[in-house]
Amino acid sequence: MATSETVLQVLSGGLPCTHRLDPFVGGVNSVLSFCSDVKWRRNRGLVYKKLNNRVRLLGKCTSRGVGAVKSCGKLKCAHRWESMRCKCQKAESFGGAAANEWSPVSLPVNGVDSATNIFERGSFALKGNEETQSIEEEAWDLLRASVVCYCGNPIGTIAANDANSGSILNYDQIFIRDFIPSGIAFLLKGEYDIVRNFILYTLQLQSWEKTMDCYSPGQGLMPASFKVRTVPLGSEDSATEEILDADFGEAAIGRVAPVDSGLWWIILLRAYGKCSGDLSVQERVDVQTGMKMILKLCLADGFDMFPTLLVTDGSCMIDRRMGIHGHPLEIQALFYSALLCAREMLAPEDGSADLIRALNNRLVALSFHIREYYWLDLKKLNEIYRYTTEEYSYDAVNKFNIYPDQIPPWLVEFMPSKGGYLIGNLQPAHMDFRFFTLGNLWSIVSSLATLDQSHAILDLIEAKWAELVAEMPIKICYPALEGQEWRIITGSDPKNTPWSYHNGGSWPTLLWQLTVACIKMNRPEIAQKAVQLVERRISRDKWPEYYDTKRARFIGKQAHLFQTWSISGYLVAKLLLANPSAVKIFVNEEDPELVNALLSANPRRKRARKGFKQPFIV
Ligand code: GLC
Repeated sequence: MATSETVLQVLSGGLPCTHRLDPFVGGVNSVLSFCSDVKWRRNRGLVYKKLNNRVRLLGKCTSRGVGAVKSCGKLKCAHRWESMRCKCQKAESFGGAAANEWSPVSLPVNGVDSATNIFERGSFALKGNEETQSIEEEAWDLLRASVVCYCGNPIGTIAANDANSGSILNYDQIFIRDFIPSGIAFLLKGEYDIVRNFILYTLQLQSWEKTMDCYSPGQGLMPASFKVRTVPLGSEDSATEEILDADFGEAAIGRVAPVDSGLWWIILLRAYGKCSGDLSVQERVDVQTGMKMILKLCLADGFDMFPTLLVTDGSCMIDRRMGIHGHPLEIQALFYSALLCAREMLAPEDGSADLIRALNNRLVALSFHIREYYWLDLKKLNEIYRYTTEEYSYDAVNKFNIYPDQIPPWLVEFMPSKGGYLIGNLQPAHMDFRFFTLGNLWSIVSSLATLDQSHAILDLIEAKWAELVAEMPIKICYPALEGQEWRIITGSDPKNTPWSYHNGGSWPTLLWQLTVACIKMNRPEIAQKAVQLVERRISRDKWPEYYDTKRARFIGKQAHLFQTWSISGYLVAKLLLANPSAVKIFVNEEDPELVNALLSANPRRKRARKGFKQPFIV
């Protein structure tokens, strides 16, 4: 097997010829062809050329006699590989089951062991009737039809696959965040290759080097999305090659930064290992390096006073201006989860000691901050209502100088006597009291919320079912911004009008995160109720991206149909209810060491207990 050193030798020798190499250590084989007039970069043993600000990974395939259509079902991708130029073989299989053979996956879970808890119980599946079975079958067909191949290998799923849509925008791309439920559905079905390929190819797209001119995304950033582009090979008439084009937000509407991509990538990497039992991917040197780069980017020092990750507006699932800049809950929950997942996977080596120390310190500070300052229930609301302001002292009760007048009238009605939630964002003199679903659900899944808080969040979802779920699960946030607030905060965004899209729209994809959270808390009946609602109309409505109105009665104004993560979100919910132990692949159990550190890190206790030695430096 040739190594990257061989590549560089070839390069320095300037040989204008085609060579064969195996850039993926033990993985997908590709051919690298070399010309002397392009700029080369080397990254973790791979060779790239940088062209028009796009990274071109030279794992090149040529195809003849096929059009530019690269979106294909698993078995339908019709390339004829030119064996002299291309050795793009299918990635090794790790025991992927045949497409239609479904049997619950027995999980070779490392680390998580919850002896007699919910995970050990049997299936919660709703009684399958013919109608729901046919919905599931349709969903699988649609999911497979959304699979994209690169060099003959499945590497992801496009965001939406609506043949009749006039404006696809970038919905023909593979979004990192959108692929997560697709990947999970395939993992739970025993089809591991697509996830493995996705992990490895997206790793190659990771931004690893700042460019000299203008500006480039920070080292370690994962793209929001990417696509496979087919271009003519040049010299030969009908031959084409495939290129992966990544978008780090520089082409995205609003030029938003995809902070969540890298966090999801780490979460998926762990899930892949737990589900497939193949730990060789996470152990690879390039994967370890990629993971560390994401962590370093997130853990880098800045001006911030808080342990929460400081981001710009639209840096996650809500990828447009919605007033979620600063320290939005969704990012914090994913950050916490990714830190825990990475800690489990990082190879112990001397070089990582500082990183692991920084990671542990951040985990403690982050969970303390969120549990203490983001939590809201009736009692806390009443405290805020009676806050004294302008406190200058280390012991201030109202640390962030929140003026009680900020409490919005809707909240007084909304807050149930039993239940609570984590607020959307916290800044100096500002609490965003909106309920953001994904952040709250993932705080349960990752144990960022305490056990009591986790139950209280589900209590609130049950108590406020009519507001948060109504006719289709589940609102992305509650309530919608209206009037002047909508004008100022969204910039009069016509797509984010009240109770539409990101502004209080209902997103079926969130069903899978709801299901994971409910199963973790041993309350699957909540998820089952939501699944029943979805089954009532989603297939008839052609699997929309989102629904509009307060009660989610309309298909979203500009919603794409056959939206892949609506489809895969439903499938994951069904698969998990049928095999609840599988939630182990995402769940982060509360770490007792962390709890101890958290107790000792509590500033109130710290002041009381002089000289107490903390296990982590905070
Ligand atoms: C929208 C969503 C975003 C998603 C993308 C592709 O922009 O807000 O979260 O990734 O569509 O489906």
